[in-house]
Amino acid sequence: DLSVSWLGLAMANPLYNASGVMCRSVAELEQVRTSAAGAVITKSCTPQPRVGNPEPRYCATPLGSINSMGLPNAGYHYYRDYARSYPYAAGKPLFLSLSGMTLDENLDMLRDLAAAELPCLPEVNLSCPNLPGKPQLGYDFQACREALTQIARVYPGDFGVKLPPYFDPVHFAQMAEVLNTFPTLRFVTCINSIGNGLVIDVEHESVVIKPKDGLGGLGGSYVLPTALANVREFYRLLPGKHVVGCGGINSGREAFMHILAGATVVQIGTCLYEEGEGAFARILDELRQLMAQKGYQCLDDFRGKLKTL
Ligand code: DHB
Repeated sequence: DLSVSWLGLAMANPLYNASGVMCRSVAELEQVRTSAAGAVITKSCTPQPRVGNPEPRYCATPLGSINSMGLPNAGYHYYRDYARSYPYAAGKPLFLSLSGMTLDENLDMLRDLAAAELPCLPEVNLSCPNLPGKPQLGYDFQACREALTQIARVYPGDFGVKLPPYFDPVHFAQMAEVLNTFPTLRFVTCINSIGNGLVIDVEHESVVIKPKDGLGGLGGSYVLPTALANVREFYRLLPGKHVVGCGGINSGREAFMHILAGATVVQIGTCLYEEGEGAFARILDELRQLMAQKGYQCLDDFRGKLKTL
């Protein structure tokens, strides 16, 4: 049994897409919805549509991916309208990712979403690394506190945030202290890509993506240990909140690792981009097999139970 109940939502299994992958158009969102995934999340949106950064802006490598998409999206109303017509009764929860370029843009979208009274949950993105000249909000703890204060004021319902990876125990503690201030902040998604890596093509002696002279967010196997550390530390530091694991899941084994570290549910990014929606059924099969080998009946049997030495 792979089912998960959390935040009043029932999911048949813990896998869904990471925001950004297979979720920009209704056709892509429907691909995820009609797959084996347990939920669906939309592409991070802004109030107005955006074309994003110049191409090439995504490149896969043997160990993962680098991207600098630049927030190409169809605009908030497109995703809100999808959320309005979404068949919630079919039992696949919908999450709406919001990534305004400014706090006011996020507040405008959240006010509208609150008024729409839809049974989807917002994941507010505090961590897009790909907007030239714009630092990731998640790395400024005071700015996060101020933003979350206003967000919780305009949006009375439960919500979550997408966090960038942190790399220092003091930073985990400082961010956790901010997040614990907000009772309606019910989940954190760890992690967004490791920002501003550089992949080099030796043959062409060149960068592999065009924006920002080749700098971009890393995903896939490169980021798995960093993702697991962030899931583990926020699981310990945010009692009563949920951690959504994201980063480096290619098989049932990595999904198991994220859940063992404390993830309630997990998202698939690079692997989904590379393999297509068949990745969900494959990873679920692998997770089922691993659990059977270990004698686990359900995710609660091992969630968060990582041993230390
Ligand atoms: C984009 C990338 C991100 O990592 C993110 O969180 C939001 C947007 C992008 O480049 O489109």
